[in-house]
Amino acid sequence: MKLLVTGGGGQLGRSLVRRAGAHTVIALPRSQLDIRDASALTAALAAHAPDAVINTAGFTGVDAAEHAPALASEVNAWAAGLVARACAERGVPLLHVSTDYVFDGAGARPITEDAVPAPLNAYGRSKAEGEQRVRDAGGTVVRTSWLFAAAGPSFVHTITRLALRDREIRVVADQFGRPTWAPDLADALIALAAMPERPPCVHVCGDGATTWHEFAAAIVEGVRIYRPIACERVVPITTAEFATPARRPAYSVLDTTLARTLGLPIRPWRLGLARTLAEELAKEIGR
Ligand SMILES: NC(=O)c1ccc[n+]([C@@H]2O[C@H](COP(=O)([O-])OP(=O)(O)OC[C@H]3O[C@@H](n4cnc5c(N)ncnc54)[C@H](OP(=O)(O)O)[C@@H]3O)[C@@H](O)[C@H]2O)c1
Repeated sequence: MKLLVTGGGGQLGRSLVRRAGAHTVIALPRSQLDIRDASALTAALAAHAPDAVINTAGFTGVDAAEHAPALASEVNAWAAGLVARACAERGVPLLHVSTDYVFDGAGARPITEDAVPAPLNAYGRSKAEGEQRVRDAGGTVVRTSWLFAAAGPSFVHTITRLALRDREIRVVADQFGRPTWAPDLADALIALAAMPERPPCVHVCGDGATTWHEFAAAIVEGVRIYRPIACERVVPITTAEFATPARRPAYSVLDTTLARTLGLPIRPWRLGLARTLAEELAKEIGR
């Protein structure tokens, strides 16, 4: 199977390359394919003739989107629609990656695919609009959450940096979600691409709901194994104590029942974290 990946220079794009296995993954970074360029999209599809396209390209800065909502919308909504229409015109299946942040997180139960998006911030609004455009053109929306990988940058990198520098790290403990190791998501995307049929939307994320605080504490304990760190305490705080430009959902735990029914891998996020930290340790030993 030949897969064309847009946003190929990003965290997920690079993970797809690493997990290609027997498949051919052509990952084009923005410098080689800007998804806002309709003629470049058509040319790329003609040149590579992929069996499926995976759109990982996006304006992914949640806080930055508050200051640049038009650009976020241009990339995450309008250009996502361009990708979807270009794929539809050539009859190429499209998997489009979206986010738990299309939801307001006001509930207390895992969110299923049929829940109605109600984004709280500009990033979420742009992604929700992109989802609709992709679905209108017959593409498949794959929602995920809290992505991390050694490729980074991610929350794991931020907390590692802080753990090396600060005695105390304060992390919000009242936002719940499911961290996802990008290579696990890559495996699921490749498996989905190989299926003869796909649902219009499916949730793929790591197994186990947690909070940013618990996630941070696990990262700090992991880093402590291979580096002398400064951090002595990971202090739980509330969202109200940690002001950010973008509002974030309190409970954006995605339900993965459908993904499991389809046989997609839904693996514990702690395993992915261990793999990420093991890669960092290997780099340390190699020094
Ligand atoms: N990261 C998360 O926690 C998370 C959670 C849920 C969903 N998602 C979704 O998962 C997908 C992949 O995320 P990620 O973590 O891999 O993000 P990432 O590392 O920021 O990668 C996104 C890539 O898209 C590229 N890009 C931006 N504008 C583009 C354009 N106009 N044309 C082509 N490429 C463009 C970026 O290139 P430049 O670096 O050159 O700008 C970047 O390499 C995104 O759709 C994101 O919304 C992410």
